[in-house]
Amino acid sequence: MKKITDDIYWIGTKDTETKLFENMFELPFGVMYHAFFIDDEKTAVIDCVKNITEDGFISAVQERLNGRDLDYIVLNHMEPDHSLAVTRLVELYPDARILCSAKAVPMLKNFYGIEENVQAVKEGETLSLGKNTLTWVMVPMVHWPESMMTYAVEQKVLFSTDAFGGFGIFNSIFADEVTSEHRESETVRYFANIVGKVSSIIDKTLGRVLGMNLPIEVICPSHGLIWRKEGVGKIVNEYIDLSQHRTKPKITIAYSTMYGNNEQSANILFEELKKNQVDVKMYNLSETEKSFVIADIWQSEVVLLGAPAYYGGVHPKMRELLMKLEEGALMNHTVGVFGNGAWSGGGVRGIETFLKENKVDMLEKSVEIMGRPTEEDRAALIELAKDAAAALNH
Ligand SMILES: Cc1cc2nc3c(=O)[nH]c(=O)nc-3n(C[C@H](O)[C@H](O)[C@H](O)COP(=O)(O)O)c2cc1C
Ligand SMILES: [Fe+2]
Ligand SMILES: [Fe+2]
Repeated sequence: MKKITDDIYWIGTKDTETKLFENMFELPFGVMYHAFFIDDEKTAVIDCVKNITEDGFISAVQERLNGRDLDYIVLNHMEPDHSLAVTRLVELYPDARILCSAKAVPMLKNFYGIEENVQAVKEGETLSLGKNTLTWVMVPMVHWPESMMTYAVEQKVLFSTDAFGGFGIFNSIFADEVTSEHRESETVRYFANIVGKVSSIIDKTLGRVLGMNLPIEVICPSHGLIWRKEGVGKIVNEYIDLSQHRTKPKITIAYSTMYGNNEQSANILFEELKKNQVDVKMYNLSETEKSFVIADIWQSEVVLLGAPAYYGGVHPKMRELLMKLEEGALMNHTVGVFGNGAWSGGGVRGIETFLKENKVDMLEKSVEIMGRPTEEDRAALIELAKDAAAALNH
């Protein structure tokens, strides 16, 4: 069992069984649910885990308690990935007092029928466990209305709920020991897909929390990694960049295709950009699950979206992506459009309408092709690639 600081232990779990997070997003590297135990005169568990992994969590609690009773269960967030195992804890320790935000109280009843021994805490309120004092910061909509953070005053540890989290299980739970090249991309993928919709609230909330000037030596989010020392500033800056939609000088091409014509267009764009040393990524939406695409789009200054026409509108695979992009991934971006049709088109029109409705900056000329790209179409695509490259670093 990992020690985080004096008196604070990691009792979280690693989930390699769940294939899709929120039953939508692939988890090639798994996901962790972090929970913590504070070993003091009074004992406390901070956060629970998803029930699929609860056996490990429960035995860790039992091991730490070593026959003692559990005094407090702090629930920072009621989303079931962090609360499901509370039912087992309550069965084992019926006298433990559950501390949560006022908005979590009805959720505890609605999800689990738990009403006894529940106490709503307020921002700034303190609780002494003995050597350690806990206090709370309310962070509504980071990620749900009832979300709150817990701060362990003496050890300077912030239990930050979903903020600063990420997907993935790596060689260590501590960011400063992780060597995986996927660490950062799994943080971006989590941010863009799971909390991207509330990015502006996260931005404001982080400003407010950081403005409190709490000394923070360790950040313990409920997913991803635990950040110590210089890592604290690193993850805070990464999250600020993400929540403020700061892009990188790169281009993501996302396209769908049924018979390969639109794919030919995408390839022409890709090759032209590569030839000009542009940092470019390309995704076929039927081959890559959209959370990976959204993550790259989130950080790309310029995006090229391409779809075949489908009954006067946009091919469904691209429509699916657009639905997710509506959550804010295109804020601060420039988007170019291409498409393919057989009669009067519709893919380009549909994407353009979406972009206008969402007030996204567009490249001036879209390219719509009927059937296989001709030499003339190829020239138009090369122009589009040039416009896209020129829109970088603006
Ligand atoms: C169900 C269906 C609906 C379609 N609707 C349209 C349409 O409204 N307008 C159009 O120009 N082409 C339409 N098409 C034709 C395709 O857009 C066209 O074949 C295009 O070249 C497909 O691109 P792809 O080869 O990249 O799949 C439709 C095709 C299918 C299968
Ligand atoms: Fe959540
Ligand atoms: Fe979560």
